[in-house]
Amino acid sequence: MASPPKKTLVFGATGVIGKYIISGLIDDKASFEKIGIFTSPATVENKKDEIAALKEQGVEILVGNVEYEADVVKAYDGYDTVISALGRSTILLQIPLFRLAEASPTIHTFFPSEYGTDIEYFPITSPHEKPHQLKLQVRKYVREHIRKLNVTYLVTGPYSDLYLSAQTGDFERAGSFDVKSGKAVLLGDGNGKVSFTSMRDVGVLLVAALKTPVQGSPKTLKVNSFTATPREILAEFERQTGKSWSVGYTSLEELRRLEGDAWERGDGTRYTLRRIWTEGGTLYAERDNGSVGEPGVETLEGQVRRAIEKQEGRG
Ligand SMILES: NC(=O)c1ccc[n+]([C@@H]2O[C@H](COP(=O)([O-])OP(=O)(O)OC[C@H]3O[C@@H](n4cnc5c(N)ncnc54)[C@H](OP(=O)(O)O)[C@@H]3O)[C@@H](O)[C@H]2O)c1
Repeated sequence: MASPPKKTLVFGATGVIGKYIISGLIDDKASFEKIGIFTSPATVENKKDEIAALKEQGVEILVGNVEYEADVVKAYDGYDTVISALGRSTILLQIPLFRLAEASPTIHTFFPSEYGTDIEYFPITSPHEKPHQLKLQVRKYVREHIRKLNVTYLVTGPYSDLYLSAQTGDFERAGSFDVKSGKAVLLGDGNGKVSFTSMRDVGVLLVAALKTPVQGSPKTLKVNSFTATPREILAEFERQTGKSWSVGYTSLEELRRLEGDAWERGDGTRYTLRRIWTEGGTLYAERDNGSVGEPGVETLEGQVRRAIEKQEGRG
């Protein structure tokens, strides 16, 4: 078994989920010898304050072009673990990152950018879901070419912070919890369970996974913060706001129609993912929180409180 991850290099550290991953690492920095990020000159220029804050907290900032092999090889030197939080449009750039990591004398562990639904969950339908295609290509490359690295796919399901938010325009029909108007749109019949992870907990659970020796590679770790139905979420919003909300429903059939329309217009990713979650695509037989030491995670109550504060401009 490889030695535990001690020197972690994060790609995509200033992105939507990368921010939480880097905070999770910094919060537990005593467990690591070195934390670094690989980022672009554009991000260094455009996010000066964020980069300065990371530097101040002891994070090494490596600047380069993720598409230039020489920059990546140089960045890998002295690190043992790659954590990728690259965004959807750059998922395939991970294939060269894997190839270079496999050849690196120091890298032994790699967490590719997943942090969503298990893209291989439904054997018949998952291989054909459009939003899964690039991540499936990465997993195929890992199966066929990666022999040395320990690879972990961290499967978290949807982020509760995003699901428990108010949507506007057409997307409101794909599920919404609007605190100001006291109005919710629930998906399906409202009784289907969904497994959620808060964005903060993606970082917490990733760090817990790094600190736990994992048997087998590639390994899929299915973790979460809590499981709840849309009706349970609504009931918690009503309890905390102290009033009844007006409620609409978008059936699965209607959601599939909206999804088709969105793909015809160009990109239906957000609809497809919500349809998969509503179909039960996050209901894994078991969750792996226990196998990574059962770290403390957020609750439905806490996430609803946070959503209310945020929508009321207090958070
Ligand atoms: N479960 C869910 O509900 C959920 C929701 C959203 C995303 N996700 C998943 O989380 C993962 C990360 O997504 P995200 O939304 O956090 O990503 P993002 O914010 O769109 O992008 C993340 C980072 O990728 C890097 N990047 C983006 N475009 C680049 C380019 N052209 N060249 C070089 N670097 C580029 C940037 O790194 P720098 O920070 O270094 O500039 C950026 O901050 C994905 O696998 C996505 O599917 C899951």
